Amino acid sequence: MNKTFVIALFTLAGLLSAPLASASPELARSKNCMACHAVDKKLVGPSYKDVAAKYANDKDAVAKLAKKIREGGVGSFGQIPMPANPQVSEAEARTLAAWVMAQK
Ligand code: HEC
Repeated sequence: MNKTFVIALFTLAGLLSAPLASASPELARSKNCMACHAVDKKLVGPSYKDVAAKYANDKDAVAKLAKKIREGGVGSFGQIPMPANPQVSEAEARTLAAWVMAQK
């Protein structure tokens, strides 16, 4: 991936995340994310604030988290796996990932 493309993607993500931010808590609820996550406390999964803090200095965080949201995985926060979420589209996963990264 060339650098200009990556910068363009992040500019776009930044532009998109502002107007979408208010819609994301509802999206997270409707996609069942809140069954295992809360913004500021650990449930089955880590709190979204902990996720945002962990990846605060990772410029690829949104892309990585969007992939993990759709495909599931284990090992970032412990040994409890997050199941795959095939009901979440790629665009929705990015919106959710950007929203999670905005929880500070
Ligand atoms: C069945 C419980 C469960 C559901 C439902 C769930 N998660 Fe998770 N999630 C987890 C667990 C457990 C982890 C920790 C996984 C790990 O340690 O790698 C996690 C980790 C994460 C992470 C951090 C990933 C990383 O690699 O650091 C994000 C972001 C996340 N979840 C978002 C979501 C979103 C958005 C949804 C809704 C589409 C969702 N989760 C639904 C249990 C769940």
